[in-house]
Amino acid sequence: MANFDKDSLSNTFIVALAMCLLCSIIVSGVAVALKPTQQANKELDQKQNILRAAGMLAEGSNLSAEGLTVDELFAEFTVRVVDLESGNFLDDVDAGSFDPIKVAKDPSRSIALSSDQDIATLRRRENISLVYIKTVDDQIDKLVLPVRGYGLWGTLFGYLALDADLETVSGLGFYSHKETPGLGGEVDNPNWKKLWPGVQLFDSAGDPGVRIVKRRSVAGNEMAAREVDALSGATFTTRGVQNLINFWIGDLGFGPTLQKLKLANG
Ligand SMILES: Cc1cc2nc3c(=O)[nH]c(=O)nc-3n(C[C@H](O)[C@H](O)[C@H](O)COP(=O)(O)O)c2cc1C
Repeated sequence: MANFDKDSLSNTFIVALAMCLLCSIIVSGVAVALKPTQQANKELDQKQNILRAAGMLAEGSNLSAEGLTVDELFAEFTVRVVDLESGNFLDDVDAGSFDPIKVAKDPSRSIALSSDQDIATLRRRENISLVYIKTVDDQIDKLVLPVRGYGLWGTLFGYLALDADLETVSGLGFYSHKETPGLGGEVDNPNWKKLWPGVQLFDSAGDPGVRIVKRRSVAGNEMAAREVDALSGATFTTRGVQNLINFWIGDLGFGPTLQKLKLANG
């Protein structure tokens, strides 16, 4: 190395290039090595979100009241792939690797929604999706649906859990959104989320009828059971939440699935 001129232009470039190469190998190696961990964490996070929506896991906790872990609790659910148009289950599609949100972008596996249909501002709806079913004695105890729709600044992604009658909200939670903290971001406020269990999803004609309102109807009025208080200063976000729920429980969402499951559940 006696003749190595560390100040020459070519050697400076060679050393810089070697450093870039080494760093990129390290970064790519770490990224590849961490991928399975990231995937496992993502799956764990989704399970937690589903369990929280279903009221089986308290906010901020990763153990149930009885000390069960997320995996133990989630084992009570069966994940089914469902054809949204017919409401039939599809057993030839692997639920583990199926991503409805990705599929919605593929024109060969989704439908375009007209402006009249697209109350949740999705533009396209996937042909098949997933549902999470918890059964007790072969009867549905809880059903969790993946839901999404536009708020003010972007799409809110979450889960809507239904009680055994498939008409009553068990819980609602969003795991991703772009709403303003303190305004639309209050969709994550545990106090607001507490207003959802017990809310009726359908009106007396059987149509999606959730209403998020600034002033609730008087108690006893048929509409009162379908109403939730709006978030103040977040009219657009709350309207978005109302629309996305009504879309996903409707005919273009999980409506046909709910009908089939209700018949099967007796
Ligand atoms: C910086 C900023 C952020 C806002 N973020 C939201 C939001 O996340 N969701 C929302 O519905 N409205 C948001 N708004 C308010 C809306 O522009 C609108 O004023 C509000 O939805 C009206 O709600 P109200 O009728 O309950 O007062 C934001 C306004 C400003 C100036």
